[in-house]
Amino acid sequence: MAVVGEPVEATLDNTTSKTDTSASAALQPKKVFMRTYGCQMNVYDSDRMTDVLGPEGFTTTENMEDADLVILNTCHIREKAAEKVYSELGRIRKVKEERARQGKEMMIGVAGCVAQAEGEEISRRAPIVDLVIGPQSYHQLPKLLKTARDGTKVVETEFDIDAKFKHLSERAARPPLKRAPSAFLTVQEGCDKFCTFCVVPYTRGAEVSRSVEQIVTEAEQMAVAGVREITLLGQNVNGWHGAGPDGNSWGLGRLLYRLSEIDGLDRLRYTTSHPRDMDDELIQAHRDLKTLMPYLHLPVQSGSDSILASMNRKHTRDEYFRLIDRIREAAPDIALSCDFIVGFPGETDQDFQDTMNLIRRVEFGSAFSFKYSQRPGTPGALMDNQVDEDIKSARLAELQELVAQQQTAFNASRINMTFGVLFERKGRMPGQIVGKSPWLQPVQVDASEDLIGTIQPVEILEIGRNSLFGQLKPGHHDVVGQ
Ligand code: SAH
Ligand code: SF4
Ligand code: F3S
Repeated sequence: MAVVGEPVEATLDNTTSKTDTSASAALQPKKVFMRTYGCQMNVYDSDRMTDVLGPEGFTTTENMEDADLVILNTCHIREKAAEKVYSELGRIRKVKEERARQGKEMMIGVAGCVAQAEGEEISRRAPIVDLVIGPQSYHQLPKLLKTARDGTKVVETEFDIDAKFKHLSERAARPPLKRAPSAFLTVQEGCDKFCTFCVVPYTRGAEVSRSVEQIVTEAEQMAVAGVREITLLGQNVNGWHGAGPDGNSWGLGRLLYRLSEIDGLDRLRYTTSHPRDMDDELIQAHRDLKTLMPYLHLPVQSGSDSILASMNRKHTRDEYFRLIDRIREAAPDIALSCDFIVGFPGETDQDFQDTMNLIRRVEFGSAFSFKYSQRPGTPGALMDNQVDEDIKSARLAELQELVAQQQTAFNASRINMTFGVLFERKGRMPGQIVGKSPWLQPVQVDASEDLIGTIQPVEILEIGRNSLFGQLKPGHHDVVGQ
């Protein structure tokens, strides 16, 4: 999982725009520079924005100086993430001015959750911004760009998620020729849980699920285009539900059984789940489906019942433990991952120790942890027992130390194991390629680039800080993750 709130390396898939050549051929070639912050859904959305810009004559560039259009796809989850946008806009202003001196245009768009949360405020604070566009409106990007080019500042933050999903499906009906081996697929967007610390229900709106038909079609097209692994995305992905072709209401578990029938799709994952929505069928899918990777990101946030109640998480510490027991019973080899917030208002030393003790008891393969950040418009921001920054920092360091030990222990437990690795790209060193283990660990191997896009058996020899190092074990069949 990408670290939420930090910039992620967006893999702008240039190949996806190549199928729409009919309209673009006649147009002046233009370049778009896209910077993506936040969660995987933003990565998926950035790719979809690139897709809709293809027929308008845009190709992507990694170089902002060359860009006719810059889009920042932003995250509002913590104060730091949101403020990054304004410092970046300061830097972009200088590039825009330099281009203007050369007589070249540069349009600036702000998309994503800061766009949704702050709307017009963005162009007030940063007048260089031409276009503010919320996550539900990306399909309208070409039309809005035209308006902005005519000199009108555009702010589009309507919640019309059905229109967005419809557009995504029309897009999927025209599959690209070739895609990267691992891809995201949004199945659900928005959140109705209203945890008291979180902006997502306000920036992404109410929970909406895409239909079974839309999802299956998009997944089939992806498989045809060379995708071997799909990660289903949703802010509350295990809350996904939809009417199946059999007329019954399906949950995520049932959907995974259906997707596992698709030829060529070797691996399925999903994120992010809420403990309240882990139903029996989904847990069963972890037991039954070879294609469903043995990895689960299941945020608990805190190990203290009083903090969980005050966060409005709607589950207790004990319920979380019981859930983990059921999951491990179904899939003993599963790697669990988590999110934690330290220093939520009112968190005492004892509450924090309850979290530490939950971590010791569950034993995670990895986890993300954050200092609580007061977010405008959320109930937590108004609570009067806010925790000192110094205390938050000390607790975060202590928690991260424990998680790092558990992660190292989990990685070390893979030494001498042989399992399937899906190779995705070249490594940093010549002759090296990098892939992912079934447990989402990066694995580096000296092997030919020709293996990128395939799953190969690999034996792990040693571990580094974040990666595993291994060697190919040709002829080892039927190992996990293959
Ligand atoms: N929908 C997902 C993820 C939401 S955001 C879920 O329910 O888990 C990802 C993570 O950011 C959260 O799990 C939480 O740990 C963290 N986060 C959200 N709001 C935060 C805040 N105000 N301060 C610090 N961390 C926060
Ligand atoms: Fe935010 Fe809670 Fe919804 Fe997750 S479940 S997106 S943390 S409100
Ligand atoms: Fe950030 Fe929005 Fe994702 S706030 S975490 S980009 S849903």
